[in-house]
Parts: sequence; structure tokens; C-alpha cells
Amino acid sequence: MNVHFITQCVVEHEVDCLVLPVFEGEIAKALETRLLQPEDRTILSILVEKKQITGKENFYLPTPMANYESVLILGLGKKEGCASRKLREATGKAAATISAAKKKHLFLELAHTELCAGSFVEGLMLGQYRYDEFRTLDKENPPVAVSEICVHAADGTDLFLAQAHVSRSIVQAESVNWARDLGNAPGNAMTPSILAARASAMGTELGAEVTVLGEKEMTALGMGSLLAVAQGSDQEAKLICLKYSHTKATKTVALVGKGLTFDAGGISIKGAKGMEEMKFDMCGAAAVLGAMRDILHAKPMINVVCVVPSTENLINGKAVKPGDIVKSMSGKTIEIYNTDAEGRLILCDAMTWTLKNHKPDFMIDIATLTGAVITGLGHHCAAIMSKDDEMAAALIAAGDESSDRLWRLPLWEEHTKLMKGKDADLCNIGPGYAGTITAGAFLSVFAEGTRWAHLDIAGTAWNYKGSSCISEKLASGFGVRLLSNWVNKLAE
Ligand code: BES
Ligand code: MN
Ligand code: ZN
Repeated sequence: MNVHFITQCVVEHEVDCLVLPVFEGEIAKALETRLLQPEDRTILSILVEKKQITGKENFYLPTPMANYESVLILGLGKKEGCASRKLREATGKAAATISAAKKKHLFLELAHTELCAGSFVEGLMLGQYRYDEFRTLDKENPPVAVSEICVHAADGTDLFLAQAHVSRSIVQAESVNWARDLGNAPGNAMTPSILAARASAMGTELGAEVTVLGEKEMTALGMGSLLAVAQGSDQEAKLICLKYSHTKATKTVALVGKGLTFDAGGISIKGAKGMEEMKFDMCGAAAVLGAMRDILHAKPMINVVCVVPSTENLINGKAVKPGDIVKSMSGKTIEIYNTDAEGRLILCDAMTWTLKNHKPDFMIDIATLTGAVITGLGHHCAAIMSKDDEMAAALIAAGDESSDRLWRLPLWEEHTKLMKGKDADLCNIGPGYAGTITAGAFLSVFAEGTRWAHLDIAGTAWNYKGSSCISEKLASGFGVRLLSNWVNKLAE
């Protein structure tokens, strides 16, 4: 994506779409721009009078006579609130139109250029994402994405700052799309070994310290809980760790992501309907790895470790059985009543390993952990649970900014009590109510007092309806920008 700024008010001739962002009630003023041909201004003014263009919704007008081929009015809605977020969302919605019209070279008229140019690029790149890895493409009619944006900067714009924001937005959007590629890959193309290879390649290229443990090492470390899930699969489980260190860092953050490359449920097998969606059960892993990719580019003044426990949850003759009792790396024993509650079983050992080896000041885990979160919150936001009010508030704020929205659920001692085992220290399922919270309560035991938050993204990792920049049927990349922005803030 090539973005450049100009200060004079002229449209270059190769432009194929002129983009005009407008707020409700400010359209007349926006149409005064000298960039518009008089004929187009007339047509657009009539459409405004007829209330076809209101500033609430986007409006696309092909104008074959003009030197810019088409005009896209981005409807930003009411002027109050966060302009850059509104621009990103409106652009995300318009991305499909721009793709369908095969536009490559946009010209953007922009007020508040410093902040908003980046938001525009972000919305566009996120909105134009496709997953074509396994499709035979029509060679005569290949998909087209925007490659060039010329921004007409408002008077007085700090072009250096604007360009810096744009560069950051491009890397962030690429990181989200990179994470989406991991999430969308089918189970046969995304095994724990493949995930480890992808993560290692990215980490090595960007200067992270990469460690990958196999089952032998995990056995030696006593990760009985993680290995219990893995024993029903022929694919070897992996524990993937990427570490970023800054010489002036005073804090260390750990990001732990659930990496179930396919979750059939094990002996407590899932129903056939919709089971194919369980290829998305590694989207927590994709989120932390995507965030790490972004962090490795941004180089904030903080240490970050990204940890991904990865396995399949399948069935064979060795598979773990309901009632089996295993010993986790922490020493705590766990009764496995339901083999489909496997996410917590792999996360708990990953958390213990992370605490022991990296002693983080903050730890976040992110996981497609419970169907119950969909019952409770639907597909518009993810759940956050934390005993740390300050951390929860900062994460919720980072989510509002990135449109990775979070809603907090309680996490009390009463909930943790519900996870006591009959014959072991813990049971991996609760009494059948508050399923999202009891899963979080189980994990809270393994945070051992570290400042920690748990994000349940089962309703938002795909089928996400909380942002316009995402096709619902595909992996959303939820969490990448949220986590990276939170880490970057913490480093300031
Ligand atoms: N990966 C699933 C959670 C899930 C379900 C994500 C539906 C997205 C959509 C998780 O491993 C799981 O199976 N959880 C069980 C837990 C239960 C057995 C306590 C669930 O939610 O049914
Ligand atoms: Mn499961
Ligand atoms: Zn799962």
C-alpha cells in the first residue's frame, strides 16, 4: 500500500475514485471542494436535497466523464465522538464497494489528517481482506485491491506525524490480516507443527527469541494437563514462545493464546453440525502472534513474551477419558469430567510455564474458550474477566479504540469454589451455569496472584458483528490491535 500526501487541491489523473468523508449536516460544505467537477457537484447536490445522501451511510457514484471515474461519499454519521474510529468503520463498510468496482488508486480529501489518514488506510486494508489460499482464481478476472492512496492534507497538517500514523496503521492491518490467515487455514493446513513453523518464521524474521517445545520436553516439565489433551491426536503438541526484549524495559508482559488447531471435543465429542468451525479454535493463538508481529515492528520500551500452547483435541485409543485425573505443571491435580473443556487444560500449563520462566508483571490469556460466552454476550463483544480493575479498564479502553469491544464479567472466590474437584484439586467443568466465568475462575488459580486478565473470544474470533471491517464468515483477527495498543500504551 503506497500512501502519499499532497497539499495543493488537484486530482492527479490516474485516480479512479475520489473519496469524500462527510459528517451528517456538513455535506453541503463538503461538496464545495474544488476537487469536484461542476457536473458532479450538481448531481450530488440534488441527491443531497432528495435525502439520498445524508452523511449517515456511504454513497458511491460512478462518474465516467470526470478525471476521477467515481466519487465515494463516506458517511461518518454524527459529528460527536471519535472521528478516526468513525472513519475507519465507514471505510471498512465501503471496502467491499471499492473491491467490487476494482478501484486501485484513490484520492482522499481529509480534514484532521494527522490521525485520520491512518484510520482510513486501516479500515480499507482490513475491509479488503480476502482468504483465497485454496481457491482456483479466475485468471481473466483477478481480485483487485487498492494499491495507491493520495491524501489531500488539510491546511496546517503535520505531514511527518500523518505519515508516521499511516505507517503504523499499515503494519497493524498487515498483522491483523496475517493473524486472519492463520485462523482461516483449515485444520489439515494448520497443525500445531505448522503453527509453530509459521510463528517461528515470523519471530525469527523480526528479531524475536524463539523457543518451541515438543512433547518430550513438556513431559519432562510435567505438563500433564496439556499432554492429556494432546494424547488423543497423532499430531505432536507444541508450546511456542516468542520473546521480545527492550534494553530499557522495566516491565514484562506475557500474552498467552489458546492454539487448538482443531477441537472435535475428544471423547466428549461435539455434534456434527458446525464442527468445521472448530478450525478457528486457535484464534487466541493467532491474536497473540499477530499482536507480537505488530509489537516487533513497533519496538515499544517493554519486554513481551508471547506463549502459545498448541494441540488438536481428537479421539483415538489413547485419548483422555472423562473421569481421568491428571497432574498439571503447577502440581495441582485436575479431574477431567468433560474432554471438550480442553482449552483451560492446555492454557493452565502454558500459564504456569510462563510464570516460572518469564516472571511477567502482567499476563493476559486470550481464548475461544466457551460457547457460553455466545449465549451471554452474542457476537458483538468478547468477555473480559480480571481481578485487577485497573488492568480491566485499560484493556476495555484499548478495545473501544480498536473496535475489539470487551464486556467485563465478575470473577469472585465464589466462582473459583465451583471448580473444586471431587477426588482431585480441581475439576475442569463447573456446575453447568455461568460457564464463561467458571472457565475464567479455573484459569485464575494458575495466575498465582500475578496481575492477569482473561479474554474469552469464542463469540468474536469469527462471526464477529462488532466491526464493519470484517467479513463475518472469516476469522476476524479480534484482539490483535487491542493487545498491541494496550502493550504500546503500557510502555509509554
Ligand atoms: N472451543 C470450544 C468453545 C467454543 C464453542 C468456541 C463454540 C466457539 C464456539 C471449547 O473448547 C469448548 O468446547 N467448550 C465447552 C466447555 C464445556 C464442555 C464446559 C463448551 O463451551 O461447550
Ligand atoms: Mn472444546
Ligand atoms: Zn476448544
